[in-house]
Amino acid sequence: MNKTVLITGTSRGIGKACVRKFIEQGYEVLAPSHSDMDLSSEESIIKYIHGIIKPVHVLINNAGVNPLGNIGSINFEDGRKLMEVNFWAPVILTNLLAPKMKEQGYGRIVNISSIWSGVAKPGRSIYASSKSAINAFTRTAALEFAPYNVLVNAVAPGYVNTELTKINNTPEQIEIIKNNLPVHRLAEPEEIAELIYFLASDKNTFVTGQTIFADGGYSIL
Ligand SMILES: NC(=O)c1ccc[n+]([C@@H]2O[C@H](COP(=O)([O-])OP(=O)(O)OC[C@H]3O[C@@H](n4cnc5c(N)ncnc54)[C@H](OP(=O)(O)O)[C@@H]3O)[C@@H](O)[C@H]2O)c1
Repeated sequence: MNKTVLITGTSRGIGKACVRKFIEQGYEVLAPSHSDMDLSSEESIIKYIHGIIKPVHVLINNAGVNPLGNIGSINFEDGRKLMEVNFWAPVILTNLLAPKMKEQGYGRIVNISSIWSGVAKPGRSIYASSKSAINAFTRTAALEFAPYNVLVNAVAPGYVNTELTKINNTPEQIEIIKNNLPVHRLAEPEEIAELIYFLASDKNTFVTGQTIFADGGYSIL
């Protein structure tokens, strides 16, 4: 039987690379666009999920937003929306889908966190908080569902060659970042998708509750 995976945030970057990887591996991929399912709206998420007829075996909570702002000039409207998309949407989706995975005796959930959940950089306080929250949620979800073959993990990428990185860093800053990284380069989205795929696949039988940092060695400096 082909397994079905639901992936959020697939218009570009890591999400798009995940879609390619899962299709290549024979999965049926549900990749709702922003207009199919607005992750800042609980109503929109519930409506989309209730419209899915087949069982979902894998959930990849990938979509994220990252408006920068130093403390003292935080835009609270942006901050609340960030928490809705980066934290509450994965919680709502897990709340809706994990109990069904438990019933079917199989499930894999991978939450896309960030290196900024482990180390700090100015301007990212709310983003980092949302990603630390998702790491904590991952651990508790993993415990609650471990007895039912539902494994829940997080992947925390470092600097990836995506639009998000180009928006938040100038070309000059990206050159400096590359030189400072132990591997001297950014990750390609496909490299992050490989790790996500492993954690989400049948090959992962025993890893749960973990946040795996895929950052070219940045966080060990
Ligand atoms: N890029 C990096 O270097 C990096 C590093 C660490 C962690 N991450 C994390 O990795 C994940 C993917 O990042 P990325 O850089 O590949 O993606 P990205 O280019 O920032 O794209 C984000 C995706 O999320 C979707 N999205 C945003 N708001 C949404 C909403 N309200 N409802 C539905 N979809 C929404 C976007 O769709 P639309 O375009 O249609 O809005 C887009 O497909 C994120 O969680 C990010 O925080 C990225």
